[in-house]
Parts: sequence; C-alpha cells; structure tokens
Amino acid sequence: MIDAFNNFYRGKRILVTGHTGFKGSWLSIWLHELGAEVFGVALDPYSDKDNFVLSGIGNKIEADIRADVCDGDKMKELFASVRPEIVFHLAAQPLVRLSYEIPVETYRTNVMGTINIMEAIRATDSVRVGVMITTDKCYDNKEQLRAYKENDPFGGYDPYSSSKGACEIAIQSWRRSFFNPDDYGKKHNVSLASVRAGNVIGGGDWAKDRIIPDCVRSLEVGQPIGIRNPKAVRPWEHVLEPLSGYLLLAQKMWLSPTEYCEGWNFGPDQDSTLTVLEVANAMIKSFGYGELKDVSDPNALHEAKLLMLDITKAKTRLGWRPRLNAIQAVGLTADWYLRYRNEDVYGVCIDEIERFIQWK
Ligand SMILES: NC(=O)c1ccc[n+]([C@@H]2O[C@H](COP(=O)([O-])OP(=O)(O)OC[C@H]3O[C@@H](n4cnc5c(N)ncnc54)[C@H](O)[C@@H]3O)[C@@H](O)[C@H]2O)c1
Repeated sequence: MIDAFNNFYRGKRILVTGHTGFKGSWLSIWLHELGAEVFGVALDPYSDKDNFVLSGIGNKIEADIRADVCDGDKMKELFASVRPEIVFHLAAQPLVRLSYEIPVETYRTNVMGTINIMEAIRATDSVRVGVMITTDKCYDNKEQLRAYKENDPFGGYDPYSSSKGACEIAIQSWRRSFFNPDDYGKKHNVSLASVRAGNVIGGGDWAKDRIIPDCVRSLEVGQPIGIRNPKAVRPWEHVLEPLSGYLLLAQKMWLSPTEYCEGWNFGPDQDSTLTVLEVANAMIKSFGYGELKDVSDPNALHEAKLLMLDITKAKTRLGWRPRLNAIQAVGLTADWYLRYRNEDVYGVCIDEIERFIQWK
C-alpha cells in the first residue's frame, strides 16, 4: 500500500480503543497496512456483518483485547502491559437517539471512559501521543448558518452530544493540569489533542438510526427507505477522511509535541453539507434502485437540524484537506455495501484506502 505518512507508523506501538467499531476497524486496518503494531481494546462487535468481523482485522493485529473503558484499573493494567507509544481513543456510545434511552451509560462510557484513558496515559511512561476522538456535536449548537470553529463553546442538547462536550472539557482540563505543553519534557512527555469529525459514512457500519445503514437495510430487502429527518443538514464525509486527519495529526504531534496539542476539526468542505434526503437519493443512485418514504414524526426526540464544521485550521496548519465531496463519499460507501457479500472484505477495504489516497 502507498504510505502517505513516509514510513512513520512502521513498527510503532499503537493502541486503538473501539477497534471493533466502525471507525476503529478502518483505522486498525490502515495502521496494520502501514506496518504499525496495533493493539485494540473494545467490547465485542455488534454483529457478524461488521467491518471488524468481515475484514478479519482482529486476527491480523498484535492483540484484540476485550475490556471495558469504564474500568479504570483495568485500563491502567492494560496500558502497562501493552506499553503503547500512540493512543487513538475512539471507544464510545456514539448514538444520539440511544443516548436518550441510556443517558447514564452514555455518560459513563464517554466521559469516564475518556478520563480513564487519560489517567492510563498518565500512568504509562511509554505514551507520547494521545488523540482523543469526540465529535462535531460537542459544540453548543445554535442551529445557525455558521460553521463551528475549534474555539467555539462546547455544549450539546441531547445526552450524547453533551457527553462529548463534557469530554472536551475534561480533555482540556487534563491537558492544562497534567499534559501542559509548558511542562513538556520536564513533568511529562505527552502530547494530547482532541479531534472532531462530521457525520462519518463508509462501509461496514450497521448502527441503528444512521442514514447509510438504514438505506442498506431497506435496499437489501427491497423496501422503501424510511427518512426521519429529510431536511436535516449534516457535514457528510467518508470515514477515511477524518482517519487521514487523525493519522497526520498524530505524526505531527510526535514530531512537534507542543505545537499541535489542541482541538481540531476534520469535517468536509462546505459543499458536502447535504440534507439527509440528498444522501439517501445518492445511495439509491449508486445501488441503481430503491425508493424513499417520509417517516418524520412531529413528536420525535430532538436531533440537531443544522451542523457545520469550519476546517480552515486543519487545512492551513496541518496541510490536511478532504479528498472527496459528499456525493463521492456516498459512492465509495456504496461500493463496500455492493461488494461485501461476494468479495474478500479485507481486500475491499485495502482497495478503497488505495483509491482514497490516490483520489484527485
Ligand atoms: N460515526 C460517526 O458519524 C461519528 C462522527 C463523529 C464522531 N464519532 C466518534 O468516533 C468514535 C467511533 O465511532 P463509531 O461510529 O466507530 O462507533 P461504533 O459504535 O461503531 O464503535 C464504538 C466502539 O467503542 C467500543 N465501546 C463502546 N463502549 C465501550 C466500553 N464501555 N468499553 C470499551 N469499548 C467500548 C465498541 O466496542 C466499539 O468498538 C466515537 O467516539 C464517536 O463518538 C463518530
């Protein structure tokens, strides 16, 4: 595979939390192909159709560990035995609607899980870089026609969004208190950043109440796709976009530890903020068949209708840029779902990563 990171990851010991999930499985595959020693810690995959299961990445990495990030002592033990150099923390309860059903568990996993990982980093002298994954929903969303910048206030209406806002506050606090860039090399050797992506789409995601999995579930059984929030505008991006940003950022943090330890938006360009309806129509076009059904409910739980990220900072300071627009991202996503039944899924993922890297 083409190495877009100049051999940086080869032989590095990398811990990925949430490696059995949608984004974590893709990150683990990419890191494995870059020659990294990947250690994963997460709960069991959700289904046997997950990208993690079908790609078989769990059998290729150094260790596929099942443990709960809410268990702080266990995390410290695990870090002590793995001795990672770079940590990508993705493990979370990531669903807005589910967070209304299990708010306490959402907070425990997202907030205490993040704190436990930061405490484990603090207790393990091998770690030099920590990239903590939150979300675009961490900002105090005023539903306005302005994209959120990294220094906008945190907030969140629903338990998921506010839990991620709380994660951001905790990360900021731990960075100031324990991983302060002013104390780097004196009191600690850690560079800690938080990263916020948009609405991530890609192959192998079967989560409930996400538009792409909803589309595929309906298309596969020949039923109309039910659309709950047809007019909601989201910053759609292919999963490989934010992952390329996390990988680039971690490399930069390793090389210049005090220069990049802050918050970063890795969203799509402004022209990729499409409505849910437009995304569903693009899926139908890629599959070549299908129809839509409006199932919007006036009494539905609150979900943000408008959300955009400003990515000027990542573009100017990291030299990162999104490669695909939203329509191309849907096309590459559909590619996985059209191939997973008949092809070797690890090969499909590698093929899609290669195509993504070379995208013009
Ligand atoms: N998918 C998106 O659109 C999106 C957008 C922005 C941010 N994010 C963030 O990216 C990260 C990954 O999201 P995803 O879409 O891959 O989610 P996912 O649900 O597919 O994966 C979540 C992972 O976390 C693990 N996990 C959950 N609870 C855990 C616990 N208590 N202990 C250990 N592991 C646990 C799961 O086992 C799984 O591996 C999350 O932090 C999410 O908030 C996702």
